[in-house]
Amino acid sequence: MTRVFSGIKPTGHMTLGNYLGAVRRWAEVDQYRSESLFCVVDLHALTVEHDPGRVLRLSRQLATLLLAAGLDPKVSTLFVQSHVDEHARLSYLLECTATDGEMRRMIQYREKSAQAQAAGEGVRLSLLTYPVLMAADILAYGTDEVPVGDDQTQHVELTRDLAVRFNQRYGQTFVVPRAVKPEVAARVMDLQEPTSKMGKTTTGTGGVVFVLDEPEVVRKKVMRAVTDSGTGCEYDPVGRPGVANLLDVLAACTGGDPEELAGVYESYGALKRDTAEAVVEVLRPVRERHAELAADGGFVDGVLREGAEKARGMARPRVDAAYRAVGLMPVG
Ligand code: TYM
Repeated sequence: MTRVFSGIKPTGHMTLGNYLGAVRRWAEVDQYRSESLFCVVDLHALTVEHDPGRVLRLSRQLATLLLAAGLDPKVSTLFVQSHVDEHARLSYLLECTATDGEMRRMIQYREKSAQAQAAGEGVRLSLLTYPVLMAADILAYGTDEVPVGDDQTQHVELTRDLAVRFNQRYGQTFVVPRAVKPEVAARVMDLQEPTSKMGKTTTGTGGVVFVLDEPEVVRKKVMRAVTDSGTGCEYDPVGRPGVANLLDVLAACTGGDPEELAGVYESYGALKRDTAEAVVEVLRPVRERHAELAADGGFVDGVLREGAEKARGMARPRVDAAYRAVGLMPVG
């Protein structure tokens, strides 16, 4: 059976981009047709300035939201990265496989290190090695498919390169995984700045819809979305990114096709109104279920405990094999 692994990091509240680009498919498709693991990747949140209490709160909130989105602990494994030592253990071996040059080429490293420098903060070494930890997350489980949004493509490509290189040097150890992206909404853009990705950590959040936003807030954000000068709603992501983004979001929420939907609308106002309502309706059940689950923290903790135990059992043999393959002495 195909094995699927994916993760989300607790650096901010879950966005509509996370939901449409990744989480919704994990719950609706992946877990039912594959052996799936989904992970709140908390170690990744430490690669930038962070408030420890906030990381903790967000980790629990994301896990609760993943369950609210429909992940079923009876069919998929949900856990927190730092509960399973194998990720960090394998990451070191992959640091010994990757090169400094390939790390520095990563787009997210370039962007985030520039942001840290601009804010007068030091660039953490872990920001550079972050994609190696991500590769370890994936490779520890013999993953075939990694369902992600568009922004993670380069990291999954690196993971493939590291798997192939390791296997060539030390013998067949890792499965070479591939990224799987949604047909629509693989990159949901910021509503105020439609040439940038809608991101959890964007400051001034008017352009970012959060999954837990109240319906009125969602409506306001969508109605205020920046559109392009011009009239008519043609689908042109390069020339008219604001309108194209709304069409993508509407299509993702209603199961339609953005180009076909473009023909339906004559005014931006109508497009925004329908998009706002579609987003509200898609998020409503998730918000409601989140409120129920959040009231029962014991349930979520229990799911995560069992998930970690299962994940440990799955990762350990492969990580042990990798340790032996590189020449490390087993315990006598
Ligand atoms: P993260 O936490 O930034 O995002 C989680 C998932 O949401 C997708 N996503 C989006 N999709 C469409 N439009 C957007 N605006 C948007 N923003 C985010 C991301 O592509 C991702 O699929 N490095 C990863 C976390 C990670 C991981 C892993 C993922 C760590 N280890 C192993 C897969 C496998 C990240 O920062 O995701």
